[in-house]
Amino acid sequence: MRVEGAKNSALKLMAAALLAPGASTITNVPDIADVDIMAEVVSGLGARVERSDHALVIDATDATSYEAPYELVARMRASISVLGPLVARLGRARVAMPGGCAIGSRKIDMHIAGLQHLGVTIEIGHGFILATAPPMGLQGADVTLEFPSVGATENLLTAAVTARGTTTIDNAAREPEIVDLAEFLNAMGARIAGAGTQTIVIEGVDELRPVEEHRVVGDRVEAGTFLVAGALCGGPVTVRGFDCDHLGLTIDKLRKAGCIVDCLLDGATISREGAVAAVDVQTLPHPGFPTDMQAQFMALMAIAEGSSVITENVFENRFMFADELSRMGADVRIEGHHALVRGVEQLSGAPVRCPDLRAGAALVLAGLVADGETRVGDIHHIERGYERFVDKLASLGANIGYAWDDMPVLGGENPC
Ligand code: UD1
Repeated sequence: MRVEGAKNSALKLMAAALLAPGASTITNVPDIADVDIMAEVVSGLGARVERSDHALVIDATDATSYEAPYELVARMRASISVLGPLVARLGRARVAMPGGCAIGSRKIDMHIAGLQHLGVTIEIGHGFILATAPPMGLQGADVTLEFPSVGATENLLTAAVTARGTTTIDNAAREPEIVDLAEFLNAMGARIAGAGTQTIVIEGVDELRPVEEHRVVGDRVEAGTFLVAGALCGGPVTVRGFDCDHLGLTIDKLRKAGCIVDCLLDGATISREGAVAAVDVQTLPHPGFPTDMQAQFMALMAIAEGSSVITENVFENRFMFADELSRMGADVRIEGHHALVRGVEQLSGAPVRCPDLRAGAALVLAGLVADGETRVGDIHHIERGYERFVDKLASLGANIGYAWDDMPVLGGENPC
């Protein structure tokens, strides 16, 4: 099967398109609910968005509004990524505070501190952040992030591209989606070097132009999710449309868990014959093990021979999934940010509910190997980030479909 373009890149590229008047074209855009919301956000700011198949044309000529309303930011936290582009292009931005989130408090202090280094004045009140550039415009600066936050790195990058002078972001996030954003911005005429390393240097330019065409990087998390499906069921499953190097540690851990993973030019094939071996993982910023793969990996460890410790270092409260998985017979004990998973021989199908996007996908994966029927509720979480998830699994041979009440049902006769 083939994965789509990365959600976490497409959303940021859509926001970055606001930087230059004119029409930018983005291809390989996934057809998912979060892209719909970001399209509403940028349209609300005055841009014209046209969508056909997996391509988006964003014409930001009339993007002159600077306010992202609460209704949209509350639906999708990534709306905060318009902050940098707005303050760079219009000199001000009024963006609703994203508030809490199901996977932890997800603060934005580093976004704010970074922008302040560039001279931005920040006022917070009535649930909004008001960011105002100085009259002379933003000024390049040296910024060291406390933690390599993906969102803070992106907001700083997009704010700094037209600042006067040089900006250096130290301890920057190194995710492939950051590299994709930097390539998009460079195609706009920005001068960014070092994206993908911990130090990014941005030479401010006077003007940016729209991007003729940019293809969103393949979704490594969608790919990883289907690789875990293959690991659970035995495969072989071939996943295409992504770069194996973007999933380095995930693939390493899958191999240690007893899978054979062959990397291809544009994807990977996974299969497993013996039992699943218990492997410890700890999530870390890229190139560490991705937090967005933690729940899927826990589903795999739930049927491993032996016990594994899964440590979550990136987000607090990202173990809500464990309770749902336990309802399916998994043996998981949580101690702070560690989960002790004792493998069981067989999971048992049960009605469960998605607590968030990745956990939702992981529950469906667990249902593939559970005995009997699994009904997964609240699948709107999955639809935020996975295009045709149910259909794609069905095309791999899974016994899965929609129930009358829209809950995917995994039958007892799954091939795995
Ligand atoms: C992005 C991804 C998300 C992924 C995460 C980490 C998108 C839309 N989402 O989220 O799927 O799981 O990266 O790879 O791209 N933090 C602060 N202060 C800040 C910013 C972050 O304390 O100003 C903390 C957060 O609370 C969190 C950690 O830093 O605990 C990581 O957050 P960050 O890397 O910013 O993740 P997001 O950009 O929100």
